[in-house]
Amino acid sequence: MGVRLSHTPVLYQEVLAGLEIKPGGRYIDGTVGAGGHARGILEASAPDGRLLGIDADPAAIALAREKLVAYGGRVTLVQGNFAELEAIAQREGFCPADGVLLDLGLSSMQLEAAQRGFSFLLDGPLDMRFDPSRMITAADLVNGLGVSDLADILYRYGEERRARAIAEAIAAARPLHTTRELAAVVEGVVGRRGRIHPATRTFQALRIAVNGELEALEAVLPQAVRVLAPGGVLAVISFHSLEDRVVKQFLRRESRDCLCPPEQPVCICGHKATLQVVTKKPIRPRAEEVESNPRSRSARLRLARRLGSRV
Ligand SMILES: C[S@@+](CC[C@H](N)C(=O)[O-])C[C@H]1O[C@@H](n2cnc3c(N)ncnc32)[C@H](O)[C@@H]1O
Repeated sequence: MGVRLSHTPVLYQEVLAGLEIKPGGRYIDGTVGAGGHARGILEASAPDGRLLGIDADPAAIALAREKLVAYGGRVTLVQGNFAELEAIAQREGFCPADGVLLDLGLSSMQLEAAQRGFSFLLDGPLDMRFDPSRMITAADLVNGLGVSDLADILYRYGEERRARAIAEAIAAARPLHTTRELAAVVEGVVGRRGRIHPATRTFQALRIAVNGELEALEAVLPQAVRVLAPGGVLAVISFHSLEDRVVKQFLRRESRDCLCPPEQPVCICGHKATLQVVTKKPIRPRAEEVESNPRSRSARLRLARRLGSRV
């Protein structure tokens, strides 16, 4: 099977409208992937808007470079982790920025490249790294962790109710080398019920752990606030409830002037709101989008505007 070299950007119009892109603006796409959203941002900010595209995956950066070549010097692409967003933005001259986009998770190219090890439907090595220079692969976790630690990952990052039983079955079947072997072990425990593949949660959990996804998200959000110009917009698309919870709680906290507990009669924390939440409820894809791009079905877009005061 050929490897796909495209990815349909989700909530495309909603992201472009939400970022309120203007000609001459400076935008940061922290997850540039195949450059779908990035292209829209460059079009909407023509003739002189600039885009900094970051991705942990060198293959994504190479593809984005090809896809965005027509925009010449308006595009800067950097292979790196968005957990370093502020340093990268400063180094590349993108502070302050008029908008920051994070489209979390993995791309269709990554999912459909068997050798990357993200898919339980394709046979490949248990890798799952966005950035191949990271030390730890899914195989290292699956074959090296104790049952309790493995169960903990499956429970915390996959919200897998059968975490302990799956971890025990994995330990009994070690060493596991391929995605199919792992999927078969999980299926042996969970069985097949409903439309969702039994290994979905286990694969999600391992991917999140391998890439430190929630830690990177926790790290990038305050940096995004710091790099945004007053009035600039932060747009985050999440694909599962763990990510969305981190984003929602961050936006809630940063849109409040005081974080003291309610029993505290006067504010002693001195916290000042840095964001105004634009989307009280997340924006979900319309039925037509879900039909044409099933990957979009769990997407939730949250938007917030940087308030005038500096942090
Ligand atoms: C859903 S795709 C983005 C697709 C992109 N918006 C487009 O339109 O083509 C997510 C991308 O984020 C990258 N990614 C995930 N976590 C990252 C991190 N912590 N730092 C940098 N890139 C990351 C992945 O490698 C992947 O290419």
